[in-house]
Amino acid sequence: MKNYFNKKKYFNILYKNFKKIKNFHIKDFFLNDKKRFNKFSINFMDIMIFDYSKNIMNDNTIKFLLKFAEEIKIKKEIEKMFSGKKINKTENNSVLHIALRKDFNSNFFLNKKNIMIEIKKCLKKMKNFSKNVINGTFRGFTNKKITDVVNIGIGGSELGPKMVNSALKDYRNHLKVHYLSNIDNNNLIDILNKINLETSIFFIVSKTFTTYETIKNAKSIKKYFNKKFNKKKFFSKHFYAISNNKNKAIEFGINKKNIFKIFNWTGGRYSVWSSVGLSIMLSIGYKNFKKFLYGANKMDNHFYKTPYNKNIPIILSLISFWYNIFFNAETEAILTYSNRLNKFTKYIQQLNMESNGKNVDKNGKKIFYNTSQIIWGGVGTNCQHSFFQLLHQGTRFIPCDFISFINNNNDFFHEHNINLLSNFFAQTKALAFGNSSIKKNIKKKKYFKNNLNLYKNFFGNVPSNSILFKNINPESIGVLLSMYEHKIFSQGIILNIFSFDQWGVELGKNLSDIIYKHLKKNKKINHKYDSSTDGLIKYYKKWKK
Ligand code: F6P
Repeated sequence: MKNYFNKKKYFNILYKNFKKIKNFHIKDFFLNDKKRFNKFSINFMDIMIFDYSKNIMNDNTIKFLLKFAEEIKIKKEIEKMFSGKKINKTENNSVLHIALRKDFNSNFFLNKKNIMIEIKKCLKKMKNFSKNVINGTFRGFTNKKITDVVNIGIGGSELGPKMVNSALKDYRNHLKVHYLSNIDNNNLIDILNKINLETSIFFIVSKTFTTYETIKNAKSIKKYFNKKFNKKKFFSKHFYAISNNKNKAIEFGINKKNIFKIFNWTGGRYSVWSSVGLSIMLSIGYKNFKKFLYGANKMDNHFYKTPYNKNIPIILSLISFWYNIFFNAETEAILTYSNRLNKFTKYIQQLNMESNGKNVDKNGKKIFYNTSQIIWGGVGTNCQHSFFQLLHQGTRFIPCDFISFINNNNDFFHEHNINLLSNFFAQTKALAFGNSSIKKNIKKKKYFKNNLNLYKNFFGNVPSNSILFKNINPESIGVLLSMYEHKIFSQGIILNIFSFDQWGVELGKNLSDIIYKHLKKNKKINHKYDSSTDGLIKYYKKWKK
């Protein structure tokens, strides 16, 4: 293992620890230590309990992981982020989504400018606008109240708001929010079929205002809208831009006053806290949106101030690193025991894989260890009846995060919630401990072909973190998101990569622009790509009606 990590003292110590305990069983850790839960769990402000005791690690593992975190100076990097240093080196930018959720009466100086003043101004604009739309003061061009909001955006300009809106469904008002992201015309048609243009407002959400899918969808709706009503002033009442690129938005035809700013130092996948969250604010109101920001700020403070041994995002990142590098875990499953979080895994996929799916380190060297794991998962109870078989008895090693809420906002059929949480507890237990009683039986009996017990055996030793909230509300969702953001940031520090750029998405975008031109010209293409791409395009030309 000759690589970056080998030069670190505590990495080598950890490696020895790994060799010693790699074949230990989680149940033995519990048998030998009655206080394991107390030692390996953290109560976050009575909002959430984080239990990491069901992991394959002993006291020394965690001790050395924390020493390793100190050795690579995670705190120094956190300090850089929180003080506005340009840690997004390849884009020469600061990373300041944390400023968006700071107390607005505080100050934050970036290049001698107090950015809190602008943040506050932006939030006030969002507040006034959403208030007027919600209470019906704001009307469409035919003087009708607004009923529908269409968020046109993709990636970070969709996944965050869509997920939070779903998570906070119980806080929603009468407004219906739709998310249009895919270039597939079916996405557009399905939404247009649901709404009345006269009572709908459209947000074109794009930090760059150049993202192809978003601009194409926006142009199509603009064309459709203008054709139907044929009055420019109508357009300006119904179309808004949420962007960092004011000029492009104006060029598109958006009224200057209808632009909500995304600050340059807000990364796309970290933008749900900015004006990108306007569709959330419209749906749940300003006060609840503020609580969402407030929750995130609580976790920010925890991340910034808490020592390594009690710092939840840092511990999560160390556990992830432990399995990624030592156990060669290819994936990490995120299992939510809440229907409200049915869009959460997709959101974390972008956050984790776009941030840490890198193959060059901070020194410009090619990386020979694995960076981001593949993030996957879903709503736990449903997944139990699909892919959990593989978690319990498959041959792959898959660490899991289990997330749930003890109280939800619906008392009706409350009994269901007890079932839901029973499953949450049962699954983490079954995965960790297996079914030792059957194992004993197997030992007693001699192996014979039809020994069903073999097939019914659960070895266990599948590690998991339990992230259990008291309530599901705007504050706890803020805590949850901020916790994962910081886990992923810490993971990037450990892996020695730049987590805040995403150059890997560019090649596909550029190629699709070139191929689009060839598909549009309904002629034979002389251009040669490669035999596979050429072959497929030939079929496109032949079969296209
Ligand atoms: O292509 C990837 C990406 O740049 C994401 O990082 C981003 O969230 C998404 O596209 C949308 O970008 P924009 O907000 O500029 O349209």
